[in-house]
Amino acid sequence: MTRKNMMAGNWKMNKTVAEAVVLTQDISNQYDPRWEDVDVVLCPPFVDLKPAKTVLDFDKVKISVGAQDVHWEPEGAYTGEISVPMLKEIGCDFCIIGHSERRTLFGETDEMVNKKAKALIAGGIAPIVCVGESLAVRDAGETEEYVCAQVRAAFAGIDAVEAKDAVVAYEPIWAIGTGRTATPEQAQEVCAAVRATLADLFGDETAQGMRVLYGGSMKPENVDGLICQPDIDGGLIGGAALKASSFKQLVEACL
Ligand code: PGA
Repeated sequence: MTRKNMMAGNWKMNKTVAEAVVLTQDISNQYDPRWEDVDVVLCPPFVDLKPAKTVLDFDKVKISVGAQDVHWEPEGAYTGEISVPMLKEIGCDFCIIGHSERRTLFGETDEMVNKKAKALIAGGIAPIVCVGESLAVRDAGETEEYVCAQVRAAFAGIDAVEAKDAVVAYEPIWAIGTGRTATPEQAQEVCAAVRATLADLFGDETAQGMRVLYGGSMKPENVDGLICQPDIDGGLIGGAALKASSFKQLVEACL
């Protein structure tokens, strides 16, 4: 089965609305019809989602927007939170959940990631489920066990039909924002283990159709070695997604 590659930019807490409009317009200006062979996704901060979507819709380019987090309840007394229906209404197709920064800095647990995944799937938004090990876990030789347990926990109680559009992003914590990338072999090894876990959960056919991304200091200089690995279907990009020129190179490396 051929999977469509995905390049998703995780802007993290960068870009005011005015700056986000400029960056989205810069990316849109680089758009080439060949990009239709890649799922290109921009994940700006919440306040930038609608303005970014407006620019993309106006330009009629096939680039999606995604959120960086969500709450699992549809509405209610959850000060500061954003729900699935809110994201859906403004045209979000994807939502990152379980990013290591949310897990380590904001106490997001596997159980919360699972609730968010279920709410997103029920609301018609594809989750991008982030998993990844710390340096301590890698040094202890427990990477695959740890990462695959995160995958199982995120998808607990979700069946194959529900899971098929979900995306998993393998992001070793020691490679995020550090300039230190996993080697293509290290990344492939874990992404293959993630896919084997998905096959165990949902059957081989569904697992072969699901995208597994790599994230962690992916940039134009190292993308080629990563993207040609059989179980790596694209990237979740932090720093290099904040410049239209480098993001374009990453998208075009997928073609
Ligand atoms: P980075 O971030 O590309 O800046 O390492 C990736 C991520 O955290 O999603």
